[in-house]
Amino acid sequence: MDNNKYIEKAKKLLERAYCPYSKFPVAAIVLDEFGNVYSGVNVENAAYPSSLCAERNAITTAVTNGMKKISKIVVIANTDRPISPCGACRQVITEFSDDKTEIILATTKSTKIKEFSVTQILPYGFDNEDL
Ligand code: THU
Repeated sequence: MDNNKYIEKAKKLLERAYCPYSKFPVAAIVLDEFGNVYSGVNVENAAYPSSLCAERNAITTAVTNGMKKISKIVVIANTDRPISPCGACRQVITEFSDDKTEIILATTKSTKIKEFSVTQILPYGFDNEDL
């Protein structure tokens, strides 16, 4: 139920994606443990490697606004299957997640979602205990 609300919000956010090069809009909604909601879209650049993914934009915006822990992250794209976040985004999601964090992957093309925990999307990830 709650997931649907955030999936709908993420779907609307896709309009804000700045992706003139890939034409592949992605949107992410991050919720913290207090119910604060943060948004991000992919923002590309003519210098392609300077582009930013939706997930990392949402997370860095959230952290800038005081988020400490992700309770839920919803990611959506116009993909045939629920979108699969890139490796760098998985690493950044891991930094701000715990075993209760819900990672919800969605697509505009169906109501099918995939739900993962952080260790499922990034098994044996590098974290601050390794430092
Ligand atoms: N992208 C994201 O924003 N998130 C993902 O999980 C996968 C890829 C963006 C990066 C680039 O702007 C476009 O999608 C195509 O790779």
